Amino acid sequence: MSIGLTQRVFSGVQPTGNLHLGNYLGAITRFVELQNTHECIYCVVDMHAITVWQDPVELARNTREVTAAYIAAGVDASKHIVFNQSQVSEHAELAWIFNCVARMGWLNRMTQFKDKAGKDAEKASVGLYSYPDLMAADILAYRATHVPVGEDQKQHLELTRDIAQKFNNDFSKSIRQAGYDDGFFPLPEPLITGAATRVMSLKDGSKKMSKSDPSDLSRINLSDGPDDIARKIKKARTDPDALPSEEKGLEGRPEAANLVGIYAALAGCSIKDVLKDFGGSQFSTFKPALSELAVEKMGPVGLEMKRLMADKAYIDEVLKDGSQRARAIAAPIFEDVKRIVGFIRSK
Ligand code: TYM
Repeated sequence: MSIGLTQRVFSGVQPTGNLHLGNYLGAITRFVELQNTHECIYCVVDMHAITVWQDPVELARNTREVTAAYIAAGVDASKHIVFNQSQVSEHAELAWIFNCVARMGWLNRMTQFKDKAGKDAEKASVGLYSYPDLMAADILAYRATHVPVGEDQKQHLELTRDIAQKFNNDFSKSIRQAGYDDGFFPLPEPLITGAATRVMSLKDGSKKMSKSDPSDLSRINLSDGPDDIARKIKKARTDPDALPSEEKGLEGRPEAANLVGIYAALAGCSIKDVLKDFGGSQFSTFKPALSELAVEKMGPVGLEMKRLMADKAYIDEVLKDGSQRARAIAAPIFEDVKRIVGFIRSK
């Protein structure tokens, strides 16, 4: 018997505060698009967040904030699934099995661990090190086939594929005995698409826009009002030249390339189109146009997030309902995993 796989999308965002334009353009807007063509599961990954210490009150607030951001951006929590990771215990249980499948050498290569742990890796949590195994479990607990993410998650997706492949090989005999001819886990495909797969800091075009950058001027937060957005774009670092008319002219100009990419992603057009309109313009012309567009697109999302955040009961109900529906998919898959691995299942 060959079990036909549903085309299923899974992705997640960490509730670590300061949700920003990079998260929005690189991930959340992609989530919204995929709803038309796929069955989608969007998770608020609270268990990933605690790989670095989080204030418990803030963690709960930030979990609701990411949920509100998904919904405000256009994720339909009634047609698709929105939930928080810790409410579905299969993630943690499958992650343990993957800790035993993944190799130390694979994890040692993860650049995100090196970046986050910094110089003193001895003091990093064990969870931060094994984080990619939990991420693989998030995706494969649902046998998801497609994962929309920003560029920075590419390496973790490659590791997820390696884990799926090794599991399929290591347990090939019992997988066949369980009735699966073509392996148990799919090798999920990363979907890294659009004009803004790597939004850079507004203060330094060589650094990724990030939640943890100490400078608030480096990012546009989803919670920023129109004045903040305009002020941050006005202060964004640029170079003295006018914008080029061809994409090639952006080479070696990271700040210009970043702002043009942001414009294209917000407008839903290509970089080429933006340069057709603004080639030859100075930043004194381009920045106000970008501000206006950013306020037009982001303003309503921020306002809707605020409105939803005031309705805690509604957000919690979305997470409860989503968790139940997520569990209904993950539980039978994990039952199979346990049988495949050889764990006795008492009736
Ligand atoms: P996180 O919470 O750091 O980021 C959430 C999403 O936003 C994308 N992103 C960006 N995209 C473009 N430009 C940027 N500057 C930028 N910064 C962040 C990220 O690529 C991501 O898609 N490990 C993940 C969360 C996770 C996950 C998963 C994702 C846990 N389990 C399973 C997919 C599937 C993370 O830390 O994302």
